[in-house]
Amino acid sequence: MRADIVVLPGDGIGPEVTAAAVAVLREIARCFRHDFEFASHDIGGAAIDRHGDPLPAATVGACRRADAVLLGAVGGPKWSDPGAKVRPEQGLLALRRELGLYANLRPVRPHPATLGAAPIKPHLLAGVDLLVVRELTGGIYFGEKTRSVDAASDLCSYSTFEVERVVRRACMLARQRRGHLTSVDKANVLETSRLWREVATRLVRDEFPDITLEHQLVDSMAMHLLSRPRAYDVIVTENMFGDILTDEASMLAGSMGLLPSASLGDGDGGAAEGQPGDARAGDRSTVIGLYEPIHGSAPDIAGRGIANPVGAILSAALLLRHSLGLEAEALHVETAVAATLEAGIFSADLMPEGRAADTDEVADAVIERIAAASRVPE
Ligand code: NAD
Ligand code: IPM
Ligand code: MN
Repeated sequence: MRADIVVLPGDGIGPEVTAAAVAVLREIARCFRHDFEFASHDIGGAAIDRHGDPLPAATVGACRRADAVLLGAVGGPKWSDPGAKVRPEQGLLALRRELGLYANLRPVRPHPATLGAAPIKPHLLAGVDLLVVRELTGGIYFGEKTRSVDAASDLCSYSTFEVERVVRRACMLARQRRGHLTSVDKANVLETSRLWREVATRLVRDEFPDITLEHQLVDSMAMHLLSRPRAYDVIVTENMFGDILTDEASMLAGSMGLLPSASLGDGDGGAAEGQPGDARAGDRSTVIGLYEPIHGSAPDIAGRGIANPVGAILSAALLLRHSLGLEAEALHVETAVAATLEAGIFSADLMPEGRAADTDEVADAVIERIAAASRVPE
């Protein structure tokens, strides 16, 4: 198949881990005879430096025309002055919103080989396989912000429509898994959470009677996620809770560098309720998606070639699966990553002592295993 993939390397370790993921995608294209075209565009701090804008119009346009988008990370100390007028993170938030990517899928499946790197007791981690579905285009991230000299506010709001579509997405995913959904909120305090809980309850009752729904308050969820992670299947929650809980969940796997994500919409280029979709995007046969590791630009290790590329590589696997419909190829990538970890080929974040593999060595090991697995015996 032919596919146009836009690459947004961004800042810090972003370019290092996206280069690794692109190398893996090129190997998949070679082994399976696909034609993947890659085009890099600016976002984040790199785009502020070059264009004075964290999300140049040319970048949005390229993403809209692409079959899928692969992103590294944005941000860093250079652009983090509290008084800064424009910030790298605004570029990423605007892109998610522009493309209508309201559902952010963050799977967490600790690999047996990396359990030793996790700060949690290994017996609690065996068999953990959960999927966080984080609402990505609403809530406090996108509400009105105000600032005066001695006060500030961030408005958190959700509509029924916004809650319904992401909970529906989570239910459909739960149906393909173990049929269990945990909806996380703070309904004992927040009005948005009370709406969230009401809508989730009604939607599951009316549309997904086969799904078992439980509600959990976000503070105790933060605890249960560590004390009984095996109890969870699909977890659905609002934007900020999902952001925080998934960084916490990365400690089940052993490192922030391991977790991938897929941000999906309805393939209509971001049309809101009742509005026509963007015509170019609406005609596409595949679903536009943005794929990125959950970690940030890791300024503390950037530029040294030692970042863990696994989160970015597994994001590329999600791209193959969700945007290109290439399930077998996605599985090849995931199997090759698992085999690499099994062989003890770890980056420094997973291996505080001893000789760790650098970013390229991990990527090369994954590529070798993809090549070996897809070689046709003579
Ligand atoms: P971070 O995720 O960048 O780093 C947290 C810690 O995890 C650091 O010690 C880092 O070295 C380590 N780490 C992260 N990814 C790693 C990898 N692939 N391999 C090895 N170690 C890894 O979070 P932070 O330090 O709080 O944020 C730094 C910047 O990144 C901020 O500007 C923030 O806004 C931005 N950020 C961007 C994204 C994104 O683009 N999606 C996500 C999170 C944070
Ligand atoms: C993430 C990041 C972003 C978020 C920031 C960089 C805007 O933390 O992708 O998890 O909070 O969504
Ligand atoms: Mn985050």
